Amino acid sequence: MNDALKDRTILITGITDAGSLALSIARQAREEGANIVCSGLGRTEYHASISDRAADFLDKTYAAFEATVKAELGEDTPMFPLDVTLDGSIEDFCQALSQQNIQLDGFLHSIAMDKTIKAGVVIKSILDVTKDEFFSAMDVSAYSLVSLTRGLIQNNLLKKDSSILALSYLGAEKVAYHPYKNIGVAKAALERIVVELAYELGVSHNIKVNAIRFSPYTGSKAGSAIQGLAEAVEFCEKHSPLGNARPEDLAWESTYLLRPYGRVTGEIRNVDGGYHIRG
Ligand SMILES: NC(=O)c1ccc[n+]([C@@H]2O[C@H](COP(=O)([O-])OP(=O)(O)OC[C@H]3O[C@@H](n4cnc5c(N)ncnc54)[C@H](O)[C@@H]3O)[C@@H](O)[C@H]2O)c1
Repeated sequence: MNDALKDRTILITGITDAGSLALSIARQAREEGANIVCSGLGRTEYHASISDRAADFLDKTYAAFEATVKAELGEDTPMFPLDVTLDGSIEDFCQALSQQNIQLDGFLHSIAMDKTIKAGVVIKSILDVTKDEFFSAMDVSAYSLVSLTRGLIQNNLLKKDSSILALSYLGAEKVAYHPYKNIGVAKAALERIVVELAYELGVSHNIKVNAIRFSPYTGSKAGSAIQGLAEAVEFCEKHSPLGNARPEDLAWESTYLLRPYGRVTGEIRNVDGGYHIRG
């Protein structure tokens, strides 16, 4: 065991259940000495006008998040509700961190959503994507990296020398083997935001910002909903020189990038068993 993250406090977003990639990263960060703080999608006062169905979804999602974090990371792990699409929710989350005197040495952005991806539904072609579907995928999956980072910085919650890490996919750059359409465009924006933030925050705060593109993975809620992903997992397993990367591989590379030392920033890393080198 190494203690590269000893005494570092890392915010982990994006845990829903035991299959969430963020959970593997949280476990490895804790193993390396980090204090873990978690945010999960849940109902806030800013959701007052939503339908009963939407409220029920948010409540169940938050309950699953809490149960998973308690069981896997410990009862005393600080947990907070956060909907990254709502400025008020980001501000309340930041206030809650401040009230508990929590200062961060970095965070994991492990958040994505695309309304055109639903279990059992054929993913829309780009030509059919509505303005609402386009901007909502951008909002949740890309712009949220800007708004969450800004909230944390404006509230003095991200220390100098912090490290920010976002999760992406090869479909940000290329037409993927399986349909990864609207969300692919959002991932392209996310990666571009990573690079811009790496420059701005490197200069202003000595903060590093990187992203990792991971292998296709059906073990999570988001992954299991993507049409054709199971076939892509098989295809990439066969065609990657090392076979598909596993959540542990992602976790090792993630904690490496979350370390305080090493002047690595603006990187879009591939943790995919080498699939990306194939023609
Ligand atoms: N599964 C894959 O094949 C794969 C491959 C490469 C990259 N990724 C990326 O990894 C990340 C995590 O995905 P996962 O596969 O672990 O699935 P997941 O479903 O466990 O995680 C997605 C998370 O996004 C959260 N989320 C959605 N909308 C939100 C909002 N408005 N506010 C706050 N949180 C919100 C969900 O609650 C969930 O926790 C995503 O960015 C995903 O695109 C996944």
